[in-house]
Amino acid sequence: MKNENVPWTKKYFPKRISEVCGQDDALKALSNFISKFGRGKARAAILYGPSGTGKTAAVYAIAADLGFEVLEVNASDFRGSDEIRAVVGNASRQASLFGRQKLILVDEVDGIAGSEDRGGIQALAKVIAETRFPIVMTAGFKQDPKEVHWDSKFTSIKKGAVLIRFGKLETESIYRILSKISKKEGIKVSDDSLRKLARHAWGDARAAINDLETFALDSKNPDEFIDALGERNKEEPMASALVKVFKTVNPKIAASAFNNVAEDPDMQFLWVEENIPREYRDSLDLYRAYDELSRADVFRGRIKNRQYWGYLRTIELMITAGIAIAKDRKYDSPADYREPKRLLEIWITNAKYIKRKSIAHKFAKKTHCSSAEATQLLPYLKVIFKKNKKQAGLIAETLELDDEEVEWLEK
Ligand SMILES: Nc1ncnc2c1ncn2[C@@H]1O[C@H](COP(=O)(O)OP(=O)(O)OP(=O)(O)O)[C@@H](O)[C@H]1O
Ligand SMILES: [Mg+2]
Repeated sequence: MKNENVPWTKKYFPKRISEVCGQDDALKALSNFISKFGRGKARAAILYGPSGTGKTAAVYAIAADLGFEVLEVNASDFRGSDEIRAVVGNASRQASLFGRQKLILVDEVDGIAGSEDRGGIQALAKVIAETRFPIVMTAGFKQDPKEVHWDSKFTSIKKGAVLIRFGKLETESIYRILSKISKKEGIKVSDDSLRKLARHAWGDARAAINDLETFALDSKNPDEFIDALGERNKEEPMASALVKVFKTVNPKIAASAFNNVAEDPDMQFLWVEENIPREYRDSLDLYRAYDELSRADVFRGRIKNRQYWGYLRTIELMITAGIAIAKDRKYDSPADYREPKRLLEIWITNAKYIKRKSIAHKFAKKTHCSSAEATQLLPYLKVIFKKNKKQAGLIAETLELDDEEVEWLEK
């Protein structure tokens, strides 16, 4: 049953508890909470931990094994509290359609924290207090929610909830997941490569599966490709993240390229800009890539000018998926990406500009003219500093110029 349009993370989403790798303690705690619901005090559970570690998967797998129907509500879909109340509130009071037990999943509950959506959280807290069905929430917090500083917003929903931690997955667990998938897909890839991919994912099974899919679909020789990856430390280096933008035409895979990099969006933008001409040779590909980049830049401007931070994800998608699909087909050239030069140039220009400004300022103060007028006289000062060392020395002393300023005038 091969369906090429379904990403492997969906295709191999665990259907049973036995298919969830690792996370034994968390699975036990969650099964306990769900099967004992109503008898214990807990009304809700919060599963927390980094991305791609099986939080959402665990809910579905356990629900399937225990015979619960899952009603999924994505907290970030809701703007106002009315909607949350309408869906979750009603659902929690109605019996299930086929008399089956119901479980309510509020996936990515941390999504409503950023939107100052106190109303939404309060509504949710109310539903939790009244619910007749177990409510399971997932959150991408890496730390214990008790220790997170924005904790106060969640106090109400945390009350009476069991906290269940999902840690980063062990390399061995990820390796097992990858190994199973590659067997089912009939991919010719060595164990070494799979282990390397597993390490490379840094505890994130979703990232590992996506990587495997990229390399299996987009490369004739996955082993060679994976070998070129380089080891990953805590954060993925930009040069390796860019492989997922440039060496695929699959927007879904490219979209997650910058998930684990340390660089901020401005730096990501510069990296992409720097490397487009290193990768894309065809003029139409280049044209489309730069066109996409310039559109992303418009959104960057909107963030800077109007603080529309919501555009961050838009920009990320444009400079990953947008750039990936700007090409007709991928290039066979080896991946060799460079750090952006432009940043250095900006820095140098700034440094020059600062010198010029400080000299003009000192000159203006001594001669009682404006800084603008003084700036216009700087070229004459430069001539003096080049031709007449004695007079230059006098001027430097009078204006109290420092060594770097003198050097700037002499150049
Ligand atoms: N422990 C695991 N065992 C097997 N597969 C896993 C495991 N963890 C993650 N996966 C795979 O990775 C993908 C993502 O998993 P899941 O959606 O459960 O992550 P998550 O922890 O909910 O992440 P996020 O916080 O980003 O929502 C799924 O396709 C699933 O197949
Ligand atoms: Mg999830």
